[in-house]
Amino acid sequence: MTVDIARAPVARLGIEDLAACLDLAADRQWPRERRKWSFLLTMGEAYGLRDEHDLAGSVVLSRFGPRLAWVGMMLVAQRWNRRGLGRALMRHAMDHAGAGTIALYATESGRPLYEALGLRVAGTVSTHRGRFLGAGSRTGLTRPFTPADLAAVQRLDAEVTGADRRRLLTGYLRFAGQVRVVTEGGAITGYAGSWRDGETVVIGPVIAARLADAKVLVTDIASTVDGPVRLDTGHPYLAAWAVAEGLARQFEVTTMVHGRDLPGDRSRLFTPLMQALG
Ligand SMILES: CC(C)(COP(=O)(O)OP(=O)(O)OC[C@H]1O[C@@H](n2cnc3c(N)ncnc32)[C@H](O)[C@@H]1OP(=O)(O)O)[C@@H](O)C(=O)NCCC(=O)NCCS
Repeated sequence: MTVDIARAPVARLGIEDLAACLDLAADRQWPRERRKWSFLLTMGEAYGLRDEHDLAGSVVLSRFGPRLAWVGMMLVAQRWNRRGLGRALMRHAMDHAGAGTIALYATESGRPLYEALGLRVAGTVSTHRGRFLGAGSRTGLTRPFTPADLAAVQRLDAEVTGADRRRLLTGYLRFAGQVRVVTEGGAITGYAGSWRDGETVVIGPVIAARLADAKVLVTDIASTVDGPVRLDTGHPYLAAWAVAEGLARQFEVTTMVHGRDLPGDRSRLFTPLMQALG
């Protein structure tokens, strides 16, 4: 049965809703990822539905121009399970996406809802976490990003994702702990970054021309981390390598799309920037 709050106007959420978002995530046994939520609440368009207690549901829409919009952080409080809030929030995000492709990474719990709304499967991504065994083994084949690299990194990112992520990248460069690039004949052919949430350092994005470059980018970032590292990838060889390097496989999500296939050259996107952003 659909109840009234599912038909209530969807509210725009902001940074002032951070605590409520963390409580909503905890209600669904998701970790309290304070930095991630802060970034998403400022960079993306977060929407929510409230009941008399608190935030009852959330979704974050990120629009990257006419070709791509990404959806993340779709959560509905357990007290409202299967009463139409997820559908209402997702519909709202889809109505406001304004892009040829709407995409997301679906959990097992989310997949039936997205299928009901016409999204189709486009791949899988596995999450890996652990202490990187190659600690201290920097390859020397990458170098730190400098502000002079910005235009080249933006161009490469646009080529690979088929989307205009310039605003996101500007915010990400302030948010990230490390950003490194790999070059070929002086031109930037790959870049990767990492960001911290609690004790975990999350590596992403990883964009590279080939698997070997993806590995050196990950190695040069992960080898300096004293603590757990997380790496998400839809690339089976990078996933197998991550496991061999000590990053155990944790869970899998399904890439789902609505409309056109994902734009860009996805063969060079080894790791998303963040699951909620693509
Ligand atoms: C996924 C989630 C957001 C769905 O929210 P919800 O408000 O319960 O979903 P709705 O009531 O709007 O469901 C709409 C439709 O989706 C489908 N659906 C949703 N959950 C389903 C389930 N567990 N099994 C089968 N179909 C399901 C059904 O078609 C449903 O319509 P119906 O109830 O009339 O049959 C919620 O379960 C949740 O927060 N899960 C934990 C967090 C998570 O994994 N989020 C997804 C991230 S990608």
